[in-house]
Amino acid sequence: MARRSVADIMQSGEAESQRMSKTLGPFSITAMGIGAIIGAGIFVLTGTAAAHYAGPAIMLSFVLGGIACAFVGLCYAELAAMLPVCGSSYTYTYATLGEIFAWIIGWDLILEYAMGAATVAVGWSGYITSLLANFGIVIPPELATAPGTPIHLPNGGAATGIINLPAVFIVAVLTILLILGTKDSARLNNIMVAVKLTVVVAFIGLGAAYVNPAHWHPFLPPNKGAFGEFGVSGILRGSAVVFFAFIGFDAVSTAAQEAKQPQRDMPIGILGSLVICTVLYIAVAAVLTGLVPYDQLNVADPIAKGVDVIGITWFSVLIKIGALTGLTTVILVLLYGQTRIFYMMAHDGLLPGLFSRIHPRLRTPWLSQMLIGVVVAIVAALVPIAILGELVSIGTLFAFVLVCGAVIYLRRTNAGTPRPFRVPAVPWVPILGILFCLLLMAGLPPVTWLRLAVWLVIGLVIYFSYGRSHSTLRRSGVPEHVS
Ligand code: ALA
Repeated sequence: MARRSVADIMQSGEAESQRMSKTLGPFSITAMGIGAIIGAGIFVLTGTAAAHYAGPAIMLSFVLGGIACAFVGLCYAELAAMLPVCGSSYTYTYATLGEIFAWIIGWDLILEYAMGAATVAVGWSGYITSLLANFGIVIPPELATAPGTPIHLPNGGAATGIINLPAVFIVAVLTILLILGTKDSARLNNIMVAVKLTVVVAFIGLGAAYVNPAHWHPFLPPNKGAFGEFGVSGILRGSAVVFFAFIGFDAVSTAAQEAKQPQRDMPIGILGSLVICTVLYIAVAAVLTGLVPYDQLNVADPIAKGVDVIGITWFSVLIKIGALTGLTTVILVLLYGQTRIFYMMAHDGLLPGLFSRIHPRLRTPWLSQMLIGVVVAIVAALVPIAILGELVSIGTLFAFVLVCGAVIYLRRTNAGTPRPFRVPAVPWVPILGILFCLLLMAGLPPVTWLRLAVWLVIGLVIYFSYGRSHSTLRRSGVPEHVS
């Protein structure tokens, strides 16, 4: 089996990092993590999951998701500090399970990053439509909804979606920004993360005063007969759906090459952003389900609906602006992360060279960024958020399982390699990470599993018809072992 050695990856990481500028410090990286984490999961999917699956017990779904991510986050921190190269779990898998698994994970990560960006763009569309309506500007709902999706009009009528144009718009704008340069994007990201955090904390603080505890009863609505529709299985299904809200802490690892001191900055960025977000999520879920009866939360802008209960119009507008800012940062980080993963895959010969081409003046992978932007915009225009969200969750959970496995494997094969950050209690913590991820995957419906399987099969076809024969590792005849 073709594998890159850990030493080789560390060396190539050093060589490659000369080409990208090292501009990110621990603050920027934590902000980048929070930028990637708080988004459509909390601003949109929390409402869907509470209304359809868990009721107020959605708070427990967040606890479950947070526990799973804590185990995985520790594993990411060890690998990101040990192998500070961009490419995230793709690179770690190359060093451990070998090329074909690395390809599978790289292909799978397209679900997390590119499809994740599309999901959040659809969430952005819901909030911008709602915000503009506050100012009397009406975007026809048919032009802000995926084709074929039924729409309930405020006047009681019905319509069907045609295309989601606001989602296309935001992807296009952010793609251009990213092409123009990482440094400026990171600075803008810090400002937007501050706005997003302020708004989320304000929602919790102000909303808490208006909570009606009666809305929390029943806390766990009884199961309706099918798996996942309330009851204990509903907590699990809810957890798998809102797991989307945690995605992004791992995106930090894709920036390792651009970090000033990756060994220190990576663990701080990954674990710090994860802890902050988990606490905020549980609080937001408690306040939201305390403000609005859970069965009324299946809307495109549930947090705004919660604020409506408070009845302060300016605060409602502020929350929508904050949500939009928050969603923007997530799209930004996911689009950015996708190019860095493609960069590594192209560098290894598994993807065509154009994905590793850096613009000489801008120093960004402009061609790759542009192609990704086009594909993400098309998906966001055409696919509903519920389908996208579940697919992104299952794809990401699958990648996380392999990352936890990589920690255990590398501790055996590369025991002596310096690890600036070490996961405690190996192999138990990674094993718990694997078990929690599998548990959450089990909460997703069979159709989502089927979509994941189809996606992976398409990936294998591409690998055997292109990647295998173009792999730089195979062509250079490097011995197949882990050093
Ligand atoms: N965690 C990110 C979000 O919720 C992907 O939008």
